[in-house]
Formats: sequence, C-alpha cells, structure tokens
Amino acid sequence: MDAIKNLLSRKSSKNLEAPFPSKKEMDIVYQSALRAPDHAWLRPSKFLEFKGDSLEELSKIFTNFANDHFQDDKAFIEKAKAAPFRAPMVIVLITEIKDHPKVPAIEQMLSTSAATQNILLALHALGYGAIWKTGKLALNENIPKYFNLDKNHHILGYIYIGTKSGDDRKVPHVNIEDFVTRQ
Ligand SMILES: Cc1cc2nc3c(=O)[nH]c(=O)nc-3n(C[C@H](O)[C@H](O)[C@H](O)COP(=O)(O)O)c2cc1C
Repeated sequence: MDAIKNLLSRKSSKNLEAPFPSKKEMDIVYQSALRAPDHAWLRPSKFLEFKGDSLEELSKIFTNFANDHFQDDKAFIEKAKAAPFRAPMVIVLITEIKDHPKVPAIEQMLSTSAATQNILLALHALGYGAIWKTGKLALNENIPKYFNLDKNHHILGYIYIGTKSGDDRKVPHVNIEDFVTRQ
C-alpha cells in the first residue's frame, strides 16, 4: 500500500476475529516497531505476544492482578478475565527503562509509543485490524510483576489484533488549521 495512503487511512478496530497475522507477517510488524526513534540506541521496547491457547494465560494474569488490586470490583474482575478474548492476538507493550545520563525514562516510553504506532501502521498495511488499549490493566507500577517483569519495566498497554469484522467506521475529517499554527 502507498505509504501516505496507509498513514491517512489507518483506524482502530474494536471488532476483531480470526485469522490473525502469521509469524512471517509479525516478523515484518516487529521489524517496523524496532525502527522507531530510540535516543542513544537503548532498545527499551519489548513485546510479549499472546495468541491461541496462550490467551488463557493472559486471562489468568489479568485476573490475578484484578483480584489483588480491585477485589471489591467484581464487574472489573470479570472484565479483566474476559479482556484477552476480545481478539485472537494480543501484544503487551513494554518499556524496559535503563539508566542513562541523557535519556530519561519518559523518552524511553515515548520510543515504545512510537514503536506502537509503527505496529498499528504495519498491521494496517498488511490488511489487519488493531486497537491500542490501556485502562486499569496498564500504566501502573503493579501490573509488570504479574508478567514476571522487574520494577524497571513499564506496561504501556496492549494491542488487540485480528481481522476487522463489521467495522465500516469512517476516518473522521480533521481540519488541520485547528491544530497547526504556521509562522
Ligand atoms: C495510550 C492510548 C491508550 C488507549 N486506551 C484505550 C482504551 O483503554 N480503551 C479504548 O477503547 N481506547 C483506547 N485508546 C484509543 C484507541 O486506541 C483509538 O485510538 C481510538 O478508539 C480512536 O480510534 P482511531 O485510532 O481510529 O482514531 C487508547 C489510545 C491511546 C493512544
């Protein structure tokens, strides 16, 4: 797909079903992710992929976290347990923060954020749908240990991936003059 057309037509998809990308396709997706800008080449971005039977494992991780931190919120515990099955493939977005005199943690998380957009764009170019989600299951200091990750790891969210189903939402029109000041 033409690169600019790909950029302008990408949109998130909530309804996702099988098939999901093959290993060969995901290799392209991860290569794209790892072309994100990365100050001092710290390589902070890591990805954990769940699909098929391993979605049960992700569900257990989410349930354990929800049980420990939201024990009074039964609706959230059920939502967390079911969350991985919204799509046939889920990628966990991780930043491994490294100490560096010139590169603070925020820059390393921004690098993973840029990698995430590359993932969304690569998936779109390959014809798949995806959506980046966070909520209570991400962006907190407690969740990484449920994935057996050390404290220097941050979870920036999850990309739900699959084949778009019943999603004909139009890309909204944006008036660029509302956002751009040309001096
Ligand atoms: C950091 C981040 C976290 C997000 N978390 C959620 C979320 O938890 N749930 C959700 O429905 N959308 C979430 N979104 C929004 C969707 O990913 C998506 O961008 C939005 O639905 C708009 O669709 P579009 O990408 O087609 O413009 C998040 C977006 C970002 C950038």
